[in-house]
Amino acid sequence: MDSPTIPAQAATVRPSSFVDADRLWQRHVAMAKLGGTAVGGVTRLALSTEDIEARALLRDWAWESGFEFAMDDIANVYIRRPGRRNDLPPVMTGSHIDSQPKGGRFDGIYGVLAGLEALQAIDAAGIETWRPIEIVGWTNEEGARFEHSLMGSKAYAFPDRLESLLDIKDRDGISVRDEVLRARQTLGPTPRRALGVVPDAYLEAHIEQGPILEARGKRVGVVTGIQGWRRFVVRIEGEAAHAGTAPQASRKDALMAANRVIGALSHLMADPDDIVRFTVGRFNVLPNSLAVVPSQVEFTIDFRHPDERALVERGDAIAGLLHEHAQPCVATLTEISRETPIRFDGDAFAAVRDAARGLDHPFMEIYSGAGHDAQNMFKLCSTGMIFVPCERGISHNEAENASPADLAAGAQVLCDALVTLAGR
Ligand code: GLV
Ligand code: MN
Ligand code: MN
Repeated sequence: MDSPTIPAQAATVRPSSFVDADRLWQRHVAMAKLGGTAVGGVTRLALSTEDIEARALLRDWAWESGFEFAMDDIANVYIRRPGRRNDLPPVMTGSHIDSQPKGGRFDGIYGVLAGLEALQAIDAAGIETWRPIEIVGWTNEEGARFEHSLMGSKAYAFPDRLESLLDIKDRDGISVRDEVLRARQTLGPTPRRALGVVPDAYLEAHIEQGPILEARGKRVGVVTGIQGWRRFVVRIEGEAAHAGTAPQASRKDALMAANRVIGALSHLMADPDDIVRFTVGRFNVLPNSLAVVPSQVEFTIDFRHPDERALVERGDAIAGLLHEHAQPCVATLTEISRETPIRFDGDAFAAVRDAARGLDHPFMEIYSGAGHDAQNMFKLCSTGMIFVPCERGISHNEAENASPADLAAGAQVLCDALVTLAGR
């Protein structure tokens, strides 16, 4: 009778020894051309032409390697290597294809390419896994063009949210739905993958996006969890007026009000322990004209913390502070996204930790400050993550960099962990 064991050679040869560092690096170089910027970064906004081209390139690599390729209703893409029991839930791994505007060459795409490299290494090792393994490339993790981050994995984990996510529009009025259709047309006939299929486990490899691994001389991070966040859009309505004639006392200057509000928010978020993360990342002024008192300001708040209580207490205080400091303008606050902090445990975390222990790379446990699609998959199944260092911790920046050896080390950990999980 069949049993969930791996053929004999797996016991002697680790599949990770077949990870090809140069092939993995060359794929990053090729991907970085899609949306590549003049100074070596990437602008590959979600479902842009470049982001759709990246799907086509992934498909071509999947086919060349003999794997199956599929796409779902929000243009998440899947590369599948069958197992011996294809009726069983797969083990999934992946990350996102999109980037920030003027972002880096590794944020996101590394997790997809490391997954593909792991699948090829497993092939080269001649291993037949018990469960199928699927690589996923998530749509719009960044939330830069369509302001809803972790979008593809959100639709995957909560398919009842699909329709409302497809309705989200970018600043030019183009909807996710329009662009998913364009992706479908560009790729041509592509097998359709269902959303919501509960995997047996999910792993995600990613650059750390912070300075800790490099500072400690570690090549691999076994991720213990991800901090939570609350994200808001603030709109302040004032009144346009002539800059030369309107008396100061009578003005409803939306920009001055925003200035007071942001000052008060900085006090609210002040933290001597430097654990709170508080960012105003987008700021728009209307009419944005030299001689006109600003009539409207809109800005975003990204507030993160590893402790849910802090997210509740400081996050809930924002509204009151806003109304107090915006006067005589009128302010509205909309919460657009909320994620609770998570702690990884269970089989997926153990598989990553054991794979790291089994290899020679220096590693450490590390908590994630950045958000990841793993937050949504955590709601479905046992989930774990692997980090590799990035130079000086720089990310969401065109200067983002990582070394071929570190990228390969993370792919090796991923490869061995996948084989363990898919062999159960
Ligand atoms: C996700 O990209 C984040 O901003 O943490
Ligand atoms: Mn990312
Ligand atoms: Mn990012």
